[in-house]
Amino acid sequence: MTLAEPPVATPSTAPFLSVRDLRVHFATDDGVVRAVDGLSFDVGRGRTLGIVGESGSGKSVTNLAILGLHDRTRTKLSGEILLDGKELLTARERELERIRGRRMAMIFQDALASLSPFHTVGRQIAETYARHTGASRRESRARAVEMLRRVGIPQPSLRADDYPHQFSGGMRQRVMIAMALVCDPELLIADEPTTSLDVTVQAQIMDLLGDLQQEFGTSIVFITHDLGVISRMADDILVMYAGRAVERGTRDEVLRTPQHPYTWGLLGSMPTLTTPVDIPLSPIPGTPPSLLDPPPGCRFAPRCAFTEQVPAGRCASRPPVLPRTAPHGAACHLTAGQRREFHADYVTARPC
Ligand SMILES: Nc1ncnc2c1ncn2[C@@H]1O[C@H](COP(=O)(O)OP(=O)(O)OP(=O)(O)O)[C@@H](O)[C@H]1O
Ligand SMILES: [Mg+2]
Repeated sequence: MTLAEPPVATPSTAPFLSVRDLRVHFATDDGVVRAVDGLSFDVGRGRTLGIVGESGSGKSVTNLAILGLHDRTRTKLSGEILLDGKELLTARERELERIRGRRMAMIFQDALASLSPFHTVGRQIAETYARHTGASRRESRARAVEMLRRVGIPQPSLRADDYPHQFSGGMRQRVMIAMALVCDPELLIADEPTTSLDVTVQAQIMDLLGDLQQEFGTSIVFITHDLGVISRMADDILVMYAGRAVERGTRDEVLRTPQHPYTWGLLGSMPTLTTPVDIPLSPIPGTPPSLLDPPPGCRFAPRCAFTEQVPAGRCASRPPVLPRTAPHGAACHLTAGQRREFHADYVTARPC
C-alpha cells in the first residue's frame, strides 16, 4: 500500500488557517483569566508558523482552541477560527471530531501521556486510521506499518507489535508523529514536540517533520519557547506576550530586524542557532502580568525600557494594535524610526 499523494496545490491564495480576534477566557474562583485576548494570525498552505513566547503567554491555550479541545462549559471563546474557510469555533462537537481526525492533527511534548499504555503502537495507529477512513483492519494495519517505516522506525512490522514503553523517548515521538500523520492531515499542530528530547534527537525529529511537510504539503503550527528550534523550523513567526500577539513576520524579518522591545528581550535571553557562543544571554527583567487583571494599555509596558519615549503615557493606557496589512509588524506605540534606532542601541548595549 502506498501513502496518499500530496494534496494538489489549490489556486486559492487564502490562508489555510485564519485566526481572528480570538479570545479564550477561563472562569476561575479568583476571577476571569484572560489567557488569550484578541489574537489574530494566518497560516499559509504548506507553511510553518512558529509561535514563540514565555511560559504562560497563551500558546497552548491557542492551540487547544484551534483543535476545539477546551471545556466549553468553563471557557468563554470568541472570535473566528477558519480552517480552509470553515468556521471551527461555532462547529458542533461531532463535526469537530471529524475535522480533528481527517484535516488536522496534533503532537504534544509528552508522547507517553498521549499514547495508551495498554495497546500496541501498531494497533493505536491502525485504529485511528480505521476510525477516520473506514478502512478494513488489514488495510489499516498495513498503513500503520507503512507510517512507522516512514517516520524512521527500524523493522516497522515487528515494532508495530510493541507497546509505547518499549520505545525510547525519540522513537516514541516518532510514533506519535506517525499517528498524527496517518490520515494525511492538512494542518499539524505541534506543541513543544521536541522539548523533552536531547539535542541530536531533537534535530532528527525536526528534519523528519520538515521532510514529511515537503512530502504531504502539510501546514504546521509549531509552538515552542526555544528560538533555536523556531529559527530552524518556521517560515513565519508569531511572538506572543500575555495572551496577545506582539510581533508577526517571516522568520528572517523577526529574527534579523525585530521590531518589538519584547522580541528584542526574547532574542537577548535565548540562544538561537546563529547566536555566537561568546554572547552572554540576559533575561528580560520582571515577570509577565497577571491575566486576571492585565494592564489596560500595552501588556508589556510594565517591563518595557522604552515607555518614556512615547508621549502622554500612551503605553500604560492604550493597547497598541498589530497592523493587519503589513506582513511584518509589531504592536507597539514606538514609531518605526524609534524602533530602528532603539533596536540598534539595544543590540550594541548588550554585554559581550
Ligand atoms: N483551564 C484553565 N483555567 C484557568 N487558567 C488557565 C487554564 N488553562 C491555562 N490557563 C492559564 O492561561 C495562561 C496561558 O497558558 P498556556 O498553557 O497557554 O501557556 P503557554 O504559553 O503554553 O506556556 P508554556 O510555555 O509554559 O507551555 C496561563 O496563565 C495559564 O495558567
Ligand atoms: Mg504550553
